Amino acid sequence: MIVSSEADLDGLKKSGRIVRLAIETMASALEPGITTLELDQIGRNVLDKEGSVSAPECVYDFPGATCISINPVVAHGIPSDTIIKAGDLVNIDVSAHKDGFYTDAGASFVVPPVSPLLHHLCSTTRKARDRAIRRIKAGELLNCVGRIFEKDARKTGFTVIENLASHGVGRSIHEKPDIPGIYQKNDPRRFEDGQVVTIEPFISTGGTFADEGEGPWELLTEPQYFTAQFEHTIVVTRRGSVIVT
Ligand code: CO
Ligand code: CO
Repeated sequence: MIVSSEADLDGLKKSGRIVRLAIETMASALEPGITTLELDQIGRNVLDKEGSVSAPECVYDFPGATCISINPVVAHGIPSDTIIKAGDLVNIDVSAHKDGFYTDAGASFVVPPVSPLLHHLCSTTRKARDRAIRRIKAGELLNCVGRIFEKDARKTGFTVIENLASHGVGRSIHEKPDIPGIYQKNDPRRFEDGQVVTIEPFISTGGTFADEGEGPWELLTEPQYFTAQFEHTIVVTRRGSVIVT
């Protein structure tokens, strides 16, 4: 969507605050022994209490309120009786709508003890996201995002999952434009004033492509690598980006 009023921006911020709160509450409960279904219930309770609804559940019939992916699952992990263990790399991705405004955010966490490799992978991915967010403003080329993700991944010996994109959001969970995670030199598209998008690198210890394994939903690389993701919803302005999650 394109933000065209103060009310639009307020609506997005309210929705974004709930998404952030759900992720923070789930992250603080993340410890060995908890199942992903129990974690999902914690996230669902936050959404319920704040009068909002899970976007993947209501838009796509996703079997859960939130996506919880334990590596090697890269994304769209289904809440289940899987027990979280020490050392696991866990991604929590929450998208919700509140009063017609959809926002989407995610983060990867390592359950201690944290290996140096996974620490490095998470910090590289988070920094790539934040660097792209700082670069974006109205008029900037969309492909600056993929360029930054690729550069940051390469510099550290990691790879980008090429088929998972950042995307428009706001009036639904996934809107145009798709913003590729890799540099597409000839893409002429530019960010617009008021545009609402997610910025979400998927950076991996070696994978470049993720798709559904044996079951539906859950995305995996083949062979299996570790992959981290950090995501914010932002509003593009002439002066830069406003993070709403
Ligand atoms: Co997301
Ligand atoms: Co997203």
